[in-house]
Amino acid sequence: MKTIVITGASDGIGAASARQLKALGHRVIIVGRSPQKTERLAKELDAPFHIADYTRLSEVVRLAEELRQYPKIDVLANNAGGAQNKRSLTEDGFERTFQINLLGGFLLTNLLLEKLCESRATVIQTSSIAANLFGSGFDVDDLQSERNYKAFDAYGAAKLEDILFTRELQRRYGEKGICAVAFEPGVVRTNFASESTPLVKFMYHSPLKYLFTISPNKSAKRLTSLAAGTPGIDFLPGEVYSSKKRMKLKFRDPDGKIAKALWDSCLKMVEKYL
Ligand SMILES: NC(=O)c1ccc[n+]([C@@H]2O[C@H](COP(=O)([O-])OP(=O)(O)OC[C@H]3O[C@@H](n4cnc5c(N)ncnc54)[C@H](OP(=O)(O)O)[C@@H]3O)[C@@H](O)[C@H]2O)c1
Repeated sequence: MKTIVITGASDGIGAASARQLKALGHRVIIVGRSPQKTERLAKELDAPFHIADYTRLSEVVRLAEELRQYPKIDVLANNAGGAQNKRSLTEDGFERTFQINLLGGFLLTNLLLEKLCESRATVIQTSSIAANLFGSGFDVDDLQSERNYKAFDAYGAAKLEDILFTRELQRRYGEKGICAVAFEPGVVRTNFASESTPLVKFMYHSPLKYLFTISPNKSAKRLTSLAAGTPGIDFLPGEVYSSKKRMKLKFRDPDGKIAKALWDSCLKMVEKYL
């Protein structure tokens, strides 16, 4: 039985995977933003739960303090995320899409590093095919999307950053016990588009959605198999998966310099919390 922390577990892919992992006999720890939704699922699964809004880094710090109480964390699934409509800054002063999809999970992982290494944990990032479709213009010197903001480019960049973060986490902490892995969940009918542009909202919420989306349960099998699986046997450390196959990344960073620069920039942004 593994102890598995899933963020963004109050809804969608995270909630479906939490149900699947519980049914497989694992101990699941639910993290969500909405207290009502999170508590409801936790009750259903008889699981512990924690609340944090990633638009406030102070809440991520409190979450990390709460999670340190668990003797072991075998899996941390950084799954919280979503797309936005317009550019806006969080109260920490960072672009919202970037903070929710990357920086919050980056900070949480860094605050839990000691426990994750001791536990020889798998750390999973929920990325997206948007990394390939919209991430090609990613610029590590413009992490706040200050130049020419487009909602889906910002989302594609953030989901590409999840993959670069996975690679760099593996490079830095692989020998200390962590196995980092990312996956793209497909196009899934969840609440995902609720804060996105009108067109994307329409695509996800109109009857047309059945033409091109898969169900949360089907998608969650990808997260569930990584969380329940054995690194090195079921998947390779530092990789990104699309279903059971490795996903080919269009963005080129052959010597890992951009992944390293991303890590160093993020570290500066959160250093006062570490
Ligand atoms: N659906 C897709 O087609 C698709 C495709 C590619 C990647 N993804 C990725 O898959 C992950 C899960 O999304 P989903 O499709 O399951 O969407 P969802 O149903 O909207 O679930 C998103 C989860 O993230 C949480 N969340 C959102 N904003 C947050 C914030 N500011 N702070 C903390 N938690 C926050 C939500 O919490 P509350 O519900 O409690 O507010 C919820 O638990 C995301 O990273 C998303 O980017 C989804």
